[in-house]
Amino acid sequence: MVCPNVGSRERHKAGDKGFVFCVPRFRDFSTLDSTTSKTKFVKITLFISIQIIFGLSSTVQKTMNESRVEELMGQMVGHMTGSMVCLGVWLGDELGLYKVMRNQGPQSADEVAVASRCHPRLVREWLDGQAAGGLIEFDAEVDRYSLTDEAAAVLADETQPTFVARAMNALGSFYMDIEKVKTAFKGDGAIAWGDHHPCLFRGTEWFFRPGYRTFLCTEWIPSLNGVDEKLKVGGRVADVGCGHGASIIAMAKHYSNATFSGFDYHAPSIETSRLRARDEGLENRTRFEVADAKSYEGNFDLICFFDCLHDMGDPVGIARHAREHLADGGSVLMVEPFALDSRAKNIAENPMATLLYNASTCVCTPNSLSQEVGLGLGAQAGEERLRDVFLEAGFSSFERCTETPLNLVFQAKS
Ligand SMILES: C[S@@+](CC[C@H](N)C(=O)[O-])C[C@H]1O[C@@H](n2cnc3c(N)ncnc32)[C@H](O)[C@@H]1O
Repeated sequence: MVCPNVGSRERHKAGDKGFVFCVPRFRDFSTLDSTTSKTKFVKITLFISIQIIFGLSSTVQKTMNESRVEELMGQMVGHMTGSMVCLGVWLGDELGLYKVMRNQGPQSADEVAVASRCHPRLVREWLDGQAAGGLIEFDAEVDRYSLTDEAAAVLADETQPTFVARAMNALGSFYMDIEKVKTAFKGDGAIAWGDHHPCLFRGTEWFFRPGYRTFLCTEWIPSLNGVDEKLKVGGRVADVGCGHGASIIAMAKHYSNATFSGFDYHAPSIETSRLRARDEGLENRTRFEVADAKSYEGNFDLICFFDCLHDMGDPVGIARHAREHLADGGSVLMVEPFALDSRAKNIAENPMATLLYNASTCVCTPNSLSQEVGLGLGAQAGEERLRDVFLEAGFSSFERCTETPLNLVFQAKS
């Protein structure tokens, strides 16, 4: 059956019910292109959804832009697929499945199962999901799966700057914390960092760690005015909101004459930082302290905020506190998520905006709202807004020194 109103973009006024839309109860998909099985899948999904949403529905007649509905359903299928692939990636990392495939060439599903000591039937299913998602290669002729070197750099080799598999922990925490987020939406908007599922802390560490290891000391710090030179011969560095210490470890390994203090108000993160420093043999030049960003003490040549100022309730007060604890000629290094300067530009032009606004809804903004002042900058504040924060805190200069697709890197001087 074909609804006569399919494709109609007209809106009809329906008495005192206001504007309503006319939609088909059924849709004849035989007339649609179906060049690939994936397109077919999208269309089937659309068909089912339209039936569910509207087929059983009211007596109210509706019209809508059907091609837009199709487009949105296509988008949703993509988002759902991405979400499930991320879950598969998380499993692959947790179970060591990618690791046993790395450098091995084509393997049967049973070989992967034996090497990873996992259940063969589940491994087979996981491999098929990975292959369908384009992450793992499948040779149907010989029934073998392989992980290319390129895929290993993203999924198996934690020393690579492109390694993202373990960051899936953070995505997992977003889902697991949905009840807390719902409560925040209906209440005061607040969720403190430490109240999230612990997967968030590990996921955040691994989301940023590959970038810090690769770029922090080779590109970001050298892009600041006068800092690299100073740290090469000594200097005291504070890392405020240091999390699991990934940035301090990277700096302490590179600048062997400098000393490093990590501060974070989340005690379990400070504990983990100490363990990470001990594992790297860096205890002598690093110290970690549980401290709020407005209460730490000491004088520093460099005070760093890595992807955390926007999470904090009182960025102006925190920047002012940093200014008061800078040694003569000292600087603030701030790394913030990449963002453009207006909400409209971000939404339209920033490829990171979808990920970051959604993450910020669940974590960054509620964390800021849980603290004194509760400014709620959000993860997409952008350079101009951040400059205002530092100028209001009394800094005389605030420069963007470099950027990556994920980050903006700033230097502020008093
Ligand atoms: C997104 S994480 C970033 C962690 C770390 N800088 C990194 O790049 O991996 C934000 C961190 O800021 C810390 N934090 C949030 N508000 C804080 C505050 N007011 N004082 C100190 N730390 C704070 C959280 O505990 C968390 O570890």
